[in-house]
Amino acid sequence: MKNISESSRRNFIKKMAAASAAVAVGTNMFAAENKAVYFEKLTRTPGSPNDKINLALIGAGGMGTQDVITALKVPNVKLVAVCDLYKGRLKDATTKWGADLFLTRSYREILSRKDVDAVIIATPDHWHQQISIDAMRAGKHVYCEKPMVHAITEGPAVIKAQTETGKIFQVGSQGVSSLGNEKARQLLKDGAIGQLNYAEGFWARHSPTGAWQYPIPADASLDTVDWETFISNTTKRSFDATRFFRWRNYRDYGTGMAGDLFVHLFSSLHFITNSFGPNKIYAAGGLRYWKDGREVPDVLLGTFDYPQSAAHAPFNLSLRCNFVDGTSGTTYLKLVGSEGSMDVTWDSVTLKRNKTIESDDPFYIEQMKKAGTPVSDRKRILAPEEYTFAAEKDYLGGPYDHFVNFFNAIRNGGKITEDAVFGYRAAAPALLCNDSYNQDTAILWNPENMQLVKK
Ligand SMILES: NC(=O)c1ccc[n+]([C@@H]2O[C@H](COP(=O)([O-])OP(=O)(O)OC[C@H]3O[C@@H](n4cnc5c(N)ncnc54)[C@H](O)[C@@H]3O)[C@@H](O)[C@H]2O)c1
Repeated sequence: MKNISESSRRNFIKKMAAASAAVAVGTNMFAAENKAVYFEKLTRTPGSPNDKINLALIGAGGMGTQDVITALKVPNVKLVAVCDLYKGRLKDATTKWGADLFLTRSYREILSRKDVDAVIIATPDHWHQQISIDAMRAGKHVYCEKPMVHAITEGPAVIKAQTETGKIFQVGSQGVSSLGNEKARQLLKDGAIGQLNYAEGFWARHSPTGAWQYPIPADASLDTVDWETFISNTTKRSFDATRFFRWRNYRDYGTGMAGDLFVHLFSSLHFITNSFGPNKIYAAGGLRYWKDGREVPDVLLGTFDYPQSAAHAPFNLSLRCNFVDGTSGTTYLKLVGSEGSMDVTWDSVTLKRNKTIESDDPFYIEQMKKAGTPVSDRKRILAPEEYTFAAEKDYLGGPYDHFVNFFNAIRNGGKITEDAVFGYRAAAPALLCNDSYNQDTAILWNPENMQLVKK
C-alpha cells in the first residue's frame, strides 16, 4: 500500500494551521455557532478554443438534449446531425438547434457522414456498447453516457475498440471532471482525513418522474416510434409505448438504480481514491411502492469491499437508494478516514477533522505525563474542525468541465480520465449489484483484471 506522503500531509496540516491563525485575526473565515469554519473558493481558468469540432447526437431525449446544450457552450463546437427513434424528438431537435441539421432514425447514417467528428451517445443503456464500438470503428470520437455498458460481459469489447482505434472515448459521469471531485482527490492525497476506512453514498426520491414514471407522448405509435430497431438487440416483443418511454424500469433496456445512480458515485469515488474498485459486491432491496409493472426494485442497498491496492488500504463502501422517501436527504458521497471525513459534491467539499478532546480525567493525565506528553491547564486556540471548499458562483460545473476535457483531448490528443477502462471499472460493480440482487448472492470480482472470480 502506498502511504499518504508524509511531506504532503505535513504541508496540509501547515496550511490548515495558517488558516487557524487567520481565524484568530478574523480573516478568510467566519465563526458560526462556536464552530470555526474555513472557507475556500474553488476556481477554474478557462482554456482557449482550437479547431472546430462537428458533433452529432444519437439519442435526443432528456440527457442527450442536456449534453448538447452543455457541449455547445464550449467554443468552436457545432451540432450537425441528430439521430433518434422517435419522430417527436427529431422535431424538437430542429426547433432547438435549427432546420439545417441532418436528421435520421439510423445511427449508422450518422457514422457514415464525413462531416461528423464526434458523437454523443445518449440512448437507453442497452444500445451503449454497440453504438460506441461502431462509432469508434467508423473513426468517430465518442462521448457515451453512463453506464458504459448494459451487462458485465459487454465491457471488454468497448475497451478493445478504444485501444485498437485510438479514438477519444469518454463516459458521461460528469462529476469526475468537477472542481469538487478534484479538490476531494487532492485533500485525500494530502492526508486531510488520514487513511480512508469507509465511504457511503445515498439518494432519496419520491416524485413520479424521480421514480422513472415519465410522460408518454400522446402520439406514441408504430408510426412515430421505430420499435423494431429499439428491440432489435434484445427480447422481441410487440409495441409497448411504456417500455419505450419508461425504459429504465425494464431489465432488457435499463440497468436499475445501480446502473443509473450508483455508477456516478463509483466514478467519483474511484477518481478521488485512484481505486480500481471493489472485489466483493452484495445488494439487497425490493419493489415496495411503485408497483406499476416495473421489473426493478425501488429500494436498493449495496455493500462493497474494496481490497488493499497500490493506491489505498482496504475500506468498505455502502450505497443506498430509494424512491419511497420524499422527506429527507439528497445525493451525497461521504469518505470517512482515520482523522476525519469529507462530504463531496461536484461543486464543494466539506471537510470535518476529528477534534482531539482535552480530558480532565486524572488517570488520562497521569498516562500522558508518563508518556512524556505535556499536559497544561491553559486553554488553547483550537484548530478549525470544519472546512468548506466551494466553487465560485460563476462556475460552469462538472458537466461543462467534462465536455471541455473531451474536446481538449480530441484537439490536443490528450488523455481521458474516464476512458473505457475507467468506465468499465465504474459500471462493473453497479451491474454486479443487479446480478447480486437478482441471484441473491454476493459476487466476487477482480477489479484490477476486470474479471469475475469463481466462488
Ligand atoms: N450523466 C448523467 O447525469 C445522466 C443523466 C440522465 C441520463 N443519463 C444517461 O443518458 C442515457 C439516456 O437517458 P435519458 O434520460 O435521456 O433517456 P430518454 O428516454 O429521455 O432518451 C433516450 C432517447 O434515445 C432514443 N433512442 C432509443 N434507442 C435509440 C437508438 N437505438 N438509436 C437512437 N436513438 C435511440 C429514444 O427515442 C429517446 O429519445 C441513459 O444511458 C442514461 O443513463 C445520464
